[in-house]
Formats: sequence, C-alpha cells, structure tokens
Amino acid sequence: MSEILRLDRWLSDMTGLSRKETGRLIRKKRVTVNREIIRDAAFPADPAVCTVMLDGKEIPYEFFQYYMVNKPAGVLSATEDRRRSTVMDLLPPGHRRDLFPAGRLDIDTTGLILMTNDGQLAHRLLSPAWHVNKQYVATVDGILDGEAVRAFADGIVSGDIQFAPAVLDILETDASGGTSRAFVTIHEGKFHQVKKMFEAVGCPVKTLTRTAFGPLLLGDLAESAARKLTDGEIQALRDCTQAHGKDYPDENEI
Ligand code: URA
Repeated sequence: MSEILRLDRWLSDMTGLSRKETGRLIRKKRVTVNREIIRDAAFPADPAVCTVMLDGKEIPYEFFQYYMVNKPAGVLSATEDRRRSTVMDLLPPGHRRDLFPAGRLDIDTTGLILMTNDGQLAHRLLSPAWHVNKQYVATVDGILDGEAVRAFADGIVSGDIQFAPAVLDILETDASGGTSRAFVTIHEGKFHQVKKMFEAVGCPVKTLTRTAFGPLLLGDLAESAARKLTDGEIQALRDCTQAHGKDYPDENEI
C-alpha cells in the first residue's frame, strides 16, 4: 500500500504530535527527507521511496500497526477517558495516534487486547460470522463439574440471552476452598458473556483473563506490557478471517 502524504501529516501520524507542532519542527529545519532538509510542511512524501528523519532519527511510516497488550485490572479498554487510564497508555512511544482496541474487556478483566488501526481486520475478528475463538482462564466460586461442561457445550441460556455453544475445560477444583479454575473458549463477544455463562451454572467469576484471541496467544507478555505483532501473527489473523471458504460473509450474517 502506498499513498503520498504531506510531510507534517507523516510526522504527526507517527509521533502523536499535532500538525501544528510538526509544522513548527519542519520550519525549524529539524526534518529531512532522503537526507535533504525540507522546510515545507506540505511537502509530498511517498513512504515507498522517502526516508524521513527528525533530528537525525528515522521516522518510518506505517499505514497499519498491530500491537498486543496485556491489560491489567483497572485500565479501560477505550481510546480515551478523562479520569482513568486506558489501554492507549500502555503502548510504547512511536505508535500511531489512530490505534483502537479491537474489542473490549471489562475493567476488572485482564489479558490480551489487540490494538490496531486496521478497521476491516478488526471488524472481521469481532463479527460472530467468522467464529474467531477467544479463550479465557477464569477462577470461579464453586465447584465446576461435568454438568457445567455439558451446559457450556449445549449453549448457556441466561435470562433472555441464548449463548452459542462454548468449550469449558476444567483445570482444577479446590473442594476445601470451594473454588475452581477453568479455560473457556467462546466465539461470540456479548456483553459480560463469560461472567454471565458462569453465573448461569452457579459459579460466579472471581478473576478473568483473556489468554488467546484467534491465533494470538498472550504467552508470557508481562502485565501492562505491549509488543508489536510479528509478521507471522498478522498473517495468521488475516488467514483466520478468510475461513469458511469465502472471503467475506454475506452482509446479513454480519
Ligand atoms: N466476558 C466477560 O464477562 N467479560 C470480559 O471482559 C470478557 C468476556
């Protein structure tokens, strides 16, 4: 993908500074394009052939960025909030300003969130039509058993909501403490879905962590840390939204 951009926009997109601020840097001769000082904020820069530097440091242009963050409890899955910190605050410097979280986790849920500005991919990953799996590990009050596993597999009903079949994989039960730990895999993303499903089998959630989103695995990424996805991970995300032998579902499936 290539598109010619104004030089002030290039710098603004990739540094988070305003266009006014990047225009000022350009006029102060702090910016070069292909090693030549450029003083015109409107200079047309082509990412395919231009190397842009600010104070001698290269600022590569990336149309799309993809990060994984490990959201801690207490941080909002939002792009901005006046009072509380958001997942945007977890990203390292140099990220695009237009990144957003592809899907939300509750404020007390921890774990994997994909941050991107690739709207089409995010839409596909979140649409129930593509059946992209999300895996969570939950600790719950109560003892999970085979009956709960069957209820998840049949599709939990909670009030007037019917959830799609899900996989419950019990990891451990603590009879003396009266708690259990389990993996749950769902492909929908309904409001408070996992908490409502456990509530429906009489085992309210104590802690919830998302460990996988489609082919992405949280792995050993530390809490509050963020990292760019590898090329392989980005390709795997694209591949999993090409499933079911068709490139795009019918509009009425979305
Ligand atoms: N299900 C929930 O109940 N909460 C989350 O944050 C994610 C899935």
